[in-house]
Amino acid sequence: MEIPADENVIVGIEGFEDAGVYRISDELALVQTVDFFTPIVDDPYDFGRIAAANAFSDIYAMGARPLTAMNIVCFAPKAYDIKILKEIIRGGADKIREARASLLGGHSVDDKEIKYGLSVTGLVHPEKIVRNSGARPHDRLILTKPLGTGILNTGIKGGMVSEAAAGRLIEVMAALNDRAAEAMRVAGAHAATDVTGFGLAGHLSEMLKDSVGVQLFPEKIPYFKEAVDLAASGFVPAGLYRNRDFYGKCVVGKTGGVFTDILFDPQTSGGLLIAVDQDNMKAFEDAAAQNKTAFWVIGEFIAEPKGKILL
Ligand code: CO
Ligand code: CO
Repeated sequence: MEIPADENVIVGIEGFEDAGVYRISDELALVQTVDFFTPIVDDPYDFGRIAAANAFSDIYAMGARPLTAMNIVCFAPKAYDIKILKEIIRGGADKIREARASLLGGHSVDDKEIKYGLSVTGLVHPEKIVRNSGARPHDRLILTKPLGTGILNTGIKGGMVSEAAAGRLIEVMAALNDRAAEAMRVAGAHAATDVTGFGLAGHLSEMLKDSVGVQLFPEKIPYFKEAVDLAASGFVPAGLYRNRDFYGKCVVGKTGGVFTDILFDPQTSGGLLIAVDQDNMKAFEDAAAQNKTAFWVIGEFIAEPKGKILL
């Protein structure tokens, strides 16, 4: 694909970044992203909240603040009650408000397979962009949401998850990464991305590429307890196997147990993965405590072996 060169494109389609970035001036750049998907929960309002929170995550992962949003809707009014769509949109609108962004409009397509999401535009100072690469040896690796959401969603479809666990899962998926992003800005993070379909191992390996490795602290990795039990009973999403086939070679250590399924579990609206200089950890911790954001220090970046995730 031939794309005309434009020196104002700071982050383009190469490099697997979370969003594109376009320089408007020396002080200001636009950050743009789009994300939408099919329902992953039964309640349309919750689905709207989760899809919107997920779309905002890519803006937060770039170190940017969301400014405006547009709805993207696939819905067949002849096949479904229009109330379902209203609830989805209401869920999205509540998240847009919480993110202090403005809803400017949207577009809908008549489609029997329901889909919803947002295109989001944010702002960032061109020098404060946080990319997925840039972590340095000795940086701490922070994660801001528990893992196992893909396994739990699969378990819910099989009727294997308690109402209490399902409720917690929905709140985690619907939570914005805004406060984690604020702590990350305060601490001047070296790199960040959000954990979605490729799981922890996949998105973490995007942060490593050929420049650093990471030593995980397996006992510090947060996850839903129920997910490990479900994985042991074989309730795992197909994407988990795809991720393991693709990223398994990056993971070094005693893999194969049920716990390692968690590393490859595809996440929906997952947390941020953030690389913070160890000297700035206090600043991160203070900011996170002040704005009450949960986080776990799950590893440390290392110089060698590059591109590898050590358990
Ligand atoms: Co992303
Ligand atoms: Co995305």
